[in-house]
Formats: sequence, C-alpha cells, structure tokens
Amino acid sequence: MIRMNENYLKLHSSYLFRRVAKRVAEFQNAHPDQEVIRMGIGDITHPLPPACLAAFEKAVKEMATRATGYGPAQGYPFLREKIAAHDFQARGADIAADEIFVSDGSKSDAGNIQELFADNIKVALQDPGYPVYLETNVMAGRTGAFENGRYRGVVYLESTAANHFIPRLPAEPVDLIYLCFPNNPTGATMDAADLQQWVDYARDNNALILFDAAYEAFIRDENLPRSIFEIPGAREVAVELRSFSKSAGFTGTRCAYIVVPKSCRVYDSQGTAHNLHDLWQRRQATKFNGVFYAVQRAAEAAYSPEGRQQIREIIDYYMANADLIRREISALGLAAIGGENAPYIWINTGRDAWEFFDTLLHQAGVVCTPGTGFGRCGENYVRISAFNHYEQVQLAMDRIKPVLQPIRKACAAG
Ligand code: MLT
Repeated sequence: MIRMNENYLKLHSSYLFRRVAKRVAEFQNAHPDQEVIRMGIGDITHPLPPACLAAFEKAVKEMATRATGYGPAQGYPFLREKIAAHDFQARGADIAADEIFVSDGSKSDAGNIQELFADNIKVALQDPGYPVYLETNVMAGRTGAFENGRYRGVVYLESTAANHFIPRLPAEPVDLIYLCFPNNPTGATMDAADLQQWVDYARDNNALILFDAAYEAFIRDENLPRSIFEIPGAREVAVELRSFSKSAGFTGTRCAYIVVPKSCRVYDSQGTAHNLHDLWQRRQATKFNGVFYAVQRAAEAAYSPEGRQQIREIIDYYMANADLIRREISALGLAAIGGENAPYIWINTGRDAWEFFDTLLHQAGVVCTPGTGFGRCGENYVRISAFNHYEQVQLAMDRIKPVLQPIRKACAAG
C-alpha cells in the first residue's frame, strides 16, 4: 500500500496566497464589473529591466547556433562571480563565487535546505513570518499538532509593536533559526548590533541561521547591513537566501541564489562537525540541473552599469508607492510600520485581520494580505504590498479612505 506522509495532515490550512487568491476569485465571480486592485502578494508590476531583457534575448538567440546542454548545477561562473563581487566583496563581506549556488527561487531554497537537517532539531522562526519556513518544517515532521494557532514543538520568535518587531533571543536552546530582514511581512529591519547578537547566539549554541535577505535591494538606510556576512563570525553559522525576483523583477523568470560558506558546519549525532557546503553541493548534484542558461545571462545583466541603474529606478518607483501608502494609512489614524526599507507596510487594523481583508475587498475592491496568515502575532494586522503602478496605488488609497474613516470614528467613539 502506498502510504502518505502524514505530516501533511497537520497543515492547518491551504497556502496563504492561494487562500487569498481564492477569496478574490469568489468576489470577482460575484462582482464581475468591480475592478480589483491587488496589493496582496508581493508580485512585481514592472517588466524586466531593459538590460536584463537584452541579455536574455541575446542568450536565447545564441542557443540557436550553439548547444548549451546541461549547465553547472551550482550556476554558471559568469553569474556567481558577479554576485560575489557586487553583493558581498564590495561591502566587505568575505564570500567567494564558489560559495554561491544559483537556483530557481528562494522559496525552493528555503524548502530544500531543511532536508539536510535532522528530524528532531529545534526550529525557531519569527512570528509573523513568511509561511514557507514553518510549513516546510511541518511537512518534514519537525512539529507537533496545530493547536491554538500554533504548531507544537516550534519556538516562535514574537515580533510585535512591544519589541519594535525585532525578536528577542530565544529563552531555550534552538538549532535552526530563520531570520528575514528586511522583514516580510512587517518591513522591520535589523541593525548590525542586533544581528551580531544572533550570530553570537548561533556560535555559542552550535546553531545555524537561515538568513533570508530577499528584500535587501529595498534598504535605503546606508547604516543597515545588507547581508548577514557583513557581521563578524557569521561565516561559520549562517546561510543566506537572495533573489532576483523583487529586485530585478524575476518573479516569473525565476532566478535566486543561496550562499553556503565553506566554513559553515553541521553536526552528526556523535557531535562530529561536517561541512554544510559539501552536503548542499551533494544534494544539488543529485536533485538539480541548474537554471536556464538565458535566465542566468539575464540575471548577470542586473550587475551591468545600465542594469544597476534601471533596477535602482524601478525600486525607487516601488518605494514611492510605499511612502504614499504609509503616509495615507497613518493619516487615517492607523499605526503602520515598514515601507521605509522594504516594499511592505504592516498595519494594525484594531480588528480581526480576515474581517478587515473582507471589508477592504468588498467595500473598496482592494486586496491586502491578512496578518494571521503570517502567524498568531499577525492577528489584527494586514500587510499591504507596494508592488504596483503609482496611479493604482493612488486609486486604492482614494477608495480605502471612505471605508476606513467611519471605522476609525466608531473605534474612537467606542
Ligand atoms: C509575498 O508576497 O510574501 C511573496 O511574494 C511570496 C513569495 O515570494 O513567495
């Protein structure tokens, strides 16, 4: 009898963005004439930067006259060398091209890397947080049942207004720590001193940090670290996820990378250290054949002078949206954070998140993401994404105002 992985039965709901899409589809079926403005999932609205597109086209044409065949599973050196030089060495982070693994996305990398770890490790992750970290560990059997909004056996690192959305170190020893900064969904950032504490914690506890820096390109504060590898001591205890999705608009094109330093260690049951880089290379060699050649050429062009300039302009555009959203929402009297170094604005609505989601959808035709989808600390919060056309954001804000004003008045009167 073919038996199933029963850990899947523990999953308490469908994937967050599918749930949101389903509700929106139901609404649209019932109201076909209502134009909906999507500010839920963080998906890009700009086309590929022209420099990336030109490199993409050129590489596809090259394939008409030359068989590219299987590429290196780790990614082509031409791309890994650019990444190492621009994203790390230029900022004083000691990362070499052969410590970079090009992939089809950070979601896949976040899900895949945890198969290298034992089933009985203790996992710590931010609440609220990107659901992929938690759900992939549920699927792998590292959690107990779902009770009172949480899976048993997981250490939730609460990120709330009380701690300025920066979690404290865990009170109990943990083995695998997921940190995401700039944070999805809150938009909070961590400074070097805070990050140093986590690196020190990981070193003291032989733990590993999985640092998700998918939104690094949105950092505007020059004093903030962009990579965990800017922090002394991180090379032994951290891996980092990066993506071209949100920076160069590759959500549909698919290209990302994971940095696994050669000095990073994991331990067997006897306490003997093993090299995580070698394990990951072994895994990738067996299970992955690399990313489409032309996509890697397109990603390489993101580092050309024109590519960098075009990406900067696109990010500035999205961040102007973020400024507008935050300003308008704050003017309505709701507490909003994020949007300064991240494309997300995290809003305390003062009422149930899904109820607020429905109100915005039905009364304003605007889609947001309910905070509870990111964890229990997201109760009463929603996330608004700044990926959109500026005119659409203006229109969304115009539609939201008359919906929220009476709610605010009622709250103030109550
Ligand atoms: C988000 O909206 O949180 C992200 O776009 C989802 C993702 O990157 O998978």
